Amino acid sequence: MKAIAVVALLVLVACAQAKVYTRCEMARILYNDHGVKNLTTLANWVCLIEHESSFNDEAVGALNSNGTRDYGLFQINNKYWCKGNVASSDSCKIACTALLGNVDASWKCAQLVYKEQGFKAWYGWLNHCNGTAPSVASCI
Ligand SMILES: *[C@@H]1O[C@H](CO)[C@@H](O)[C@H](O)[C@H]1NC(C)=O
Ligand SMILES: *[C@@H]1O[C@H](CO)[C@@H](O)[C@H](O)[C@H]1NC(C)=O
Ligand SMILES: *[C@@H]1O[C@H](CO)[C@@H](O)[C@H](O)[C@H]1NC(C)=O
Repeated sequence: MKAIAVVALLVLVACAQAKVYTRCEMARILYNDHGVKNLTTLANWVCLIEHESSFNDEAVGALNSNGTRDYGLFQINNKYWCKGNVASSDSCKIACTALLGNVDASWKCAQLVYKEQGFKAWYGWLNHCNGTAPSVASCI
């Protein structure tokens, strides 16, 4: 019972701090602040974020079967990209927790992932957005 109460409290604290963007807020941030002016590209990023983190900038994924974990809007993995509590190549040179609540840092790291692997690096994109990302043109 005690453990359940503690978990419930942690979930509440996490929820209280997390910023959950709307689809259109996210689209406008990428368009205005990060120069994603191509509407097809923009739709793909917004769709990817929706299916990776539900626009929750504090999202921390459940432990993957291989012991790794994913962080933030883009669910960046702690094995390759950010530094967490598993041995990591830390390609983005950033602590995984520093990605939480930080759109700029998350975007910067996601650009490196994209540069190396493209959208196919993300299962959320592969399974839900490849060729089918809904337009966000009405947001901007
Ligand atoms: C937008 O990006 C897509 C995908 O990369 C590309 O095919 C298209 O030509 C671009 N559109 C414009 C207007 O640049
Ligand atoms: C671990 O699993 C996650 C989710 O399935 C995957 O994205 C990641 O590439 C895997 N990492 C390793 C080192 O196998
Ligand atoms: C995306 O979808 C197209 C069309 O269905 C498919 O040909 C392509 O292989 C897919 N891309 C990836 C990376 O799976």
